[in-house]
Amino acid sequence: MAEGQRADEKRPGGRRAWRARLYLWATRRLYHELAWAYDAAAWLVSLGRWSIWRRQVLAHVRGPRVLELGPGTGHLLAEMAGRGWQVVGLEPSLQMQRVMGRTLARRGARVARLRGRAEALPFADGAFDTIVSTFPAQYILSADTFREAARVLCPGGRLVIGGLYVEVDRGLARVAARLLYGGASVPGALDRLGALAEPHGLRMSVVAQGVAGARVPVLVIERPGAAQGRSEP
Ligand SMILES: C[S@@+](CC[C@H](N)C(=O)[O-])C[C@H]1O[C@@H](n2cnc3c(N)ncnc32)[C@H](O)[C@@H]1O
Repeated sequence: MAEGQRADEKRPGGRRAWRARLYLWATRRLYHELAWAYDAAAWLVSLGRWSIWRRQVLAHVRGPRVLELGPGTGHLLAEMAGRGWQVVGLEPSLQMQRVMGRTLARRGARVARLRGRAEALPFADGAFDTIVSTFPAQYILSADTFREAARVLCPGGRLVIGGLYVEVDRGLARVAARLLYGGASVPGALDRLGALAEPHGLRMSVVAQGVAGARVPVLVIERPGAAQGRSEP
């Protein structure tokens, strides 16, 4: 690509800036008035692999007290409740909350649900053993989210993040991943999270990378300290 073109992409009105704005606009629609179509859209862009990618985090969750940030339509919440954990879902979108309510009722799952944002968690210090976030929205790149996560995790607790980015080598899913993630720089995304975790003494490791023909990382970000009475999956 010519230098001139690259410069055009970086300008405030350049191609990349427009793509970012379009992406934000489209995801807002999907989290709100089009929430009813979220599961179908996720299935389509991943060619049916979304729930496999999302379920990767389960092997790294430690109960019994688990908070899920931005659970969307609630499938992971139902699955975690089925493992006997005390699960809480925090989701700001009313429309997502409605779809989630239907998912949980259909699956017979008893889960506490709250409306709220990851950047201001309405919970006491040390309230959770694990916080989970899959395919997170922009909130995961906020310093406030990391401050709050460090506060509400108990000593030895962990923040588990799945799907910070998706890399697919071939086919339609590759095009979809590039459209969705804008070819986001992978090491760049990890570095940014590492920098957000560090001031709170949180330690980040990448514990899984590939599943179902794609690289979809799982990150475990731990609060140092002794864990008490935690349960494995
Ligand atoms: C890409 S969806 C992921 C949904 C689900 N976790 C999954 O794996 O399919 C992002 C979710 O985060 C929610 N969200 C957006 N901003 C948020 C915030 N500040 N705090 C918590 N959740 C937020 C959205 O409403 C949406 O439900």
